[in-house]
Amino acid sequence: MRTTVGIIGAGPAGLLLSHLLHKQGIASVVLENRDRAYVERRQRAGILEQATVDVLRASGAGARMDAEGIRHDGIELRFDRQSHRVDFPSATGGRSVMVYAQTEVVKDLIELRLADGGDTILFEAHATAIEDIETDHPRIRFSQNGRDEVLDCDAVVACDGFHGIGRAHIPAELQRTFERVYPFAWLGILADVPPSCEELIYAHHPRGFALHSMRSETVSRLYLQVDPDDSVDNWSDDRIWDELAARFEIEGDWKLARGPITEKSITPMRSFVAEPMRHGRLFLAGDAAHIVPPTGAKGLNLAVADVTLLAQAIAKWQAGGDESLLDGYSETALRRVWRAEHFSFFMTTMLHRDPHQPEFDYRLQLSNLRYTATSEAARASLAENYVGLPTV
Ligand code: APR
Ligand code: PHB
Repeated sequence: MRTTVGIIGAGPAGLLLSHLLHKQGIASVVLENRDRAYVERRQRAGILEQATVDVLRASGAGARMDAEGIRHDGIELRFDRQSHRVDFPSATGGRSVMVYAQTEVVKDLIELRLADGGDTILFEAHATAIEDIETDHPRIRFSQNGRDEVLDCDAVVACDGFHGIGRAHIPAELQRTFERVYPFAWLGILADVPPSCEELIYAHHPRGFALHSMRSETVSRLYLQVDPDDSVDNWSDDRIWDELAARFEIEGDWKLARGPITEKSITPMRSFVAEPMRHGRLFLAGDAAHIVPPTGAKGLNLAVADVTLLAQAIAKWQAGGDESLLDGYSETALRRVWRAEHFSFFMTTMLHRDPHQPEFDYRLQLSNLRYTATSEAARASLAENYVGLPTV
């Protein structure tokens, strides 16, 4: 098999890259380990920055997002039994975010790619090695239906997530990695109950962080900070609702609505960056190169920013051999990555209760929350990072 750009991974990064390349007349093939149903069911954060919305819309992938996504102009911060709103448009020259589940973005992109015909996405195709990345003719070895296959290409883009094979193909002596693991995790649930709020609630509580998000007018998505070694087996539906209600409680008559829980899972929290994001004809994009903790929902947006840059760079190169944008890809992408790393770290450390936290740090946290809630400058800083900075 031969194509121009070989892409490993049909998450949002790989799918959007393939779609953007197609729009510019550049052929690609996406190799995906899992089957289509698995990829379309995977639950992830669902906040789209303005720039992400703009890219999806401009590329013709935004129709259902525009019909079903919900624009959000702010978030609520809760601590000390009080509620504080952070408004986005007033602090950011009119920008906001869109609540539209990542799994819906993935479904929309898969449908578009398959509608374009040909072998655009190969499901249950397991990439095993990337070869000759220092030449003009790299190739991906993969297995599908028990057979070993080869995909020859002009460039390989590893969009294969944190556990993929791409990152390890950059020579170790040329790569640096940076990592922080947090002493807590998120227990996430989906529930068939209308959201108890119009905007997302990020709650700081002595018992730990809680987040109220949503998927639609009838489906809520909520999270509880738990121990990373905890198991969903320890969390009955009643225990989850009681704990959520306790952490969201404020003075006044706000009440958390309960309903049937349809999904429960525990996700660890990690910050990770690999530098550089390119070696020869191999490029890394999305979670393959960087992970953020989900507080602030930057993961998908970073993946979209990476592949938007990369699609432009590949188009310029394919049009006339100009590699200047490809050469700048890693440095340009990493500037945005580190901004989002800092913001996600800031939100995470401000809102979670570290079990080993000295009382001094807890006091600092509360002071930081009060400052963020009451200072116009601090609120504006949170807002502009949350909606996404246009340039970094
Ligand atoms: N061969 C083929 N496919 C692979 C391989 C392999 N060896 N290894 C991994 N994959 C596939 C996975 O099955 C997965 O579908 O790569 C895909 C990677 O997709 P994502 O994990 O969704 O990563 P990405 O596209 O970068 O999306 C980033 O996902 O985790 C969230 O917070 C993150 O929202 C962000 C978004
Ligand atoms: C979600 O809806 O899943 C979500 C929203 C905001 C976050 C994280 C996750 O910060």
